[in-house]
Amino acid sequence: MTTEKKSWRKSRAELQRIVLPADTNVLIDLYGGRLVEWIDNLAAIVAVKHANGRAVTGSIDSLFFLSPIRMGDVVRMEGRVTYVTRSTMEIEVNVFTDDPQTDETRFTTTAYLTYVAIDQNGKPREIPGLLLENDEDRQMFKEGEARSKLRKENLKRVREEHRNID
Ligand SMILES: CC(C)(COP(=O)(O)OP(=O)(O)OC[C@H]1O[C@@H](n2cnc3c(N)ncnc32)[C@H](O)[C@@H]1OP(=O)(O)O)[C@@H](O)C(=O)NCCC(=O)NCCS
Repeated sequence: MTTEKKSWRKSRAELQRIVLPADTNVLIDLYGGRLVEWIDNLAAIVAVKHANGRAVTGSIDSLFFLSPIRMGDVVRMEGRVTYVTRSTMEIEVNVFTDDPQTDETRFTTTAYLTYVAIDQNGKPREIPGLLLENDEDRQMFKEGEARSKLRKENLKRVREEHRNID
């Protein structure tokens, strides 16, 4: 069991993809489901780095597609831990497109993913705390704490509505 706090800077990650025909929808924009797959993949990298091992996606929320991404665009995704509890990590992912011809960058998508670190039996396990190194880190953590409270209320409600999964 490790209790030493870790900075989000140790686990931050970036993923880049070029949008190919197989990634597009009928409008020849990037298919939303494909982008969610990439976002989840990036967040998984951040989570296993912070947790030093296995972690699973618990939830995805505040997922907003703000502007379309076109075939041929270069998509850049940045992920970082913003908040942690005993066994969970909130990971913020922001998505941009970079136009190689104009050097223009567009902010397209944002999401929060919660990962739960698990042991060999699939049970939640303790992870390192988050080292807060400056005011921005502390602010992010505070905001994460507020989102986590709402998320837990939602999880409780969903579990109560579907008791058969407990
Ligand atoms: C996530 C999972 C390991 C949690 O196991 P559990 O025994 O139900 O966990 P607990 O109820 O003891 O909760 C442990 C912590 O995780 C949080 N948590 C549990 N399920 C969660 C979920 N779905 N989303 C967000 N947070 C979750 C709890 O709030 C709790 O947080 P805390 O440490 O801050 O108090 C289990 O529900 C699971 O395996 N789910 C499927 C995950 C999966 O398959 N993901 C891939 C997506 S297809």
